Amino acid sequence: MRTTVFLFCFFICLASCKEQTEIAKTEKEPLIMVEQSEMALLMNEMFAFNESIKQQIKEGKLHNVYPEHFNKIHTAVLTDPTDRNAAFKKDAQHFLDAQKSLFEVTSTEELKTYYNNAVNACISCHEVTCVGPIPRIKKLFIK
Ligand code: HEC
Repeated sequence: MRTTVFLFCFFICLASCKEQTEIAKTEKEPLIMVEQSEMALLMNEMFAFNESIKQQIKEGKLHNVYPEHFNKIHTAVLTDPTDRNAAFKKDAQHFLDAQKSLFEVTSTEELKTYYNNAVNACISCHEVTCVGPIPRIKKLFIK
């Protein structure tokens, strides 16, 4: 009897998981018109990361560690590879330094300043390479 109940639940689960992925797929599809570059994916992760630590910064305590894979900004394949010129490399390093320095400070006021500095570093590069996402990035600022 137990086994039957277990199996029954198992199949219900399987069915509902499948349903969810299918819903997710149909919702996403119209948004993705071209395949995203490795850099675009990394950028979306960087956006999500900063959005997710915003609340922690406001509360004055950072629980995450520095995401080492952000260093891939130096190598990730771009939609337009010619974007990676000398200025880009400098902006990329400036951003990484700003993002990293967040993990070396402890006071709430400093955390907030360093966090906003990192967001500013995102914007500095975007002003020259890719202006589209700037309004979205600006929402990351802590006022
Ligand atoms: C050194 C330059 C540089 C820095 C620093 C930078 N970006 Fe970007 N970002 C780009 C470029 C170039 C693209 C276009 C990538 C592509 O299409 O391959 C991009 C794309 C994006 C996108 C659009 C991704 C998509 O789905 O097409 C978002 C969102 C984004 N960046 C957010 C951020 C955030 C948030 C930060 C800081 C945490 C940041 N960027 C830092 C250069 C930069």
